[in-house]
Amino acid sequence: MISFDFQQKVALVTGGTKGIGRAIVMALLQGRARVVVTYSSDDVAADAFLQSLTAENKQRVNLLKSDVASRQDVRSLFEKEPITLVVNNAGILKQGDFQDLTDEQWDRTLAVNLKGPFMVGQEFLKHGPKGGAMVNISSIGGQTGGSKAPDYAASKAALISLTRSLARLGSARNIRVNAVAPGWIKTDIFSDEQLVNLQQEAAKVIPMGRLGMPEEIAGSVLFLLSGQASYITGHCLNVNGGLHFG
Ligand SMILES: NC(=O)c1ccc[n+]([C@@H]2O[C@H](COP(=O)([O-])OP(=O)(O)OC[C@H]3O[C@@H](n4cnc5c(N)ncnc54)[C@H](OP(=O)(O)O)[C@@H]3O)[C@@H](O)[C@H]2O)c1
Repeated sequence: MISFDFQQKVALVTGGTKGIGRAIVMALLQGRARVVVTYSSDDVAADAFLQSLTAENKQRVNLLKSDVASRQDVRSLFEKEPITLVVNNAGILKQGDFQDLTDEQWDRTLAVNLKGPFMVGQEFLKHGPKGGAMVNISSIGGQTGGSKAPDYAASKAALISLTRSLARLGSARNIRVNAVAPGWIKTDIFSDEQLVNLQQEAAKVIPMGRLGMPEEIAGSVLFLLSGQASYITGHCLNVNGGLHFG
C-alpha cells in the first residue's frame, strides 16, 4: 500500500474496532496519525482490537464506547480532541424479508447509518480546522438499491447526498468531504453462511471474481483524506471489483 503521512493529525474513525473501520485505523496508525476509535456494543471485539496494537500504537489510540446515533455521544467526541480528519464508517446491516422490516429497524438503520454521519458532520464543520477532510463509507447498496435490506440501501443512498451537501458546506473552510462506496467486502457484517453464499456469487457476478478485503477500502479512504486528493470533494469512489460502474 502507498504510505501516507498523517503525523500531527487526529483522526476520528467511527466503528473502528472491526472490519473496514479497523483496517482504516491500522492504515492511519501506519501513517502516524493519532486516532479516536469508537464502537457501540461489542466490548469483547473492542478489547481484542486494543490488545492487538503495539505499545506504540496503543499510545496513539483513544478507544471510546460511543453510539454514533446519540447526539450527546457525538458532541462529546469533539470536546475531547482537536479532530482534523473524520471517517464516518460505523454502520449496521440486517437483511431479511421486506414484509418483516419493522418501523424500529427502519428507524435504527437510518439513525446509525445516516443521522450519525449528519451529526458528526455538523460537529466537524463547527469544530474542525481549515483543511480538514471527511470520508463517509456508503455502499454499492446505496447506488443499486437492495431487496434484502431496503432500509440500509436508502440510508447509504442518502449518505451520498449528504456527502455532497457537506462538501458544498465545507468548501468555504477548505474542508473536503467525499464518500467511498464499497462493494462486497469480507467482514463480520455478514454471517458465516452469508459469506459462503456471497463468495460463490462473487465468482459469478463480480468482474474481478472475488470479494474485497477491508484493507482495499482503507487505501482509498486514506487517499481521499490525504493531500494527494486536495482538489477532490463531493466525490463517491467505487471500490467494488467492477460490480457496479455508476
Ligand atoms: N462489508 C461490506 O461488504 C460493506 C459493503 C459496503 C459498505 N459497508 C459499510 O462499511 C462500514 C463498515 O462495515 P463492516 O463490514 O466493517 O462492518 P462490521 O464488521 O460489522 O463493523 C462495524 C463497526 O461499526 C461499529 N458500530 C456499529 N454500530 C455502531 C454505532 N451505533 N455507533 C458506533 N459504532 C457502531 C461496530 O462496533 P460494535 O459492534 O461494538 O457496535 C464495528 O466496530 C459500514 O458503514 C457498512 O455499511 C460494508
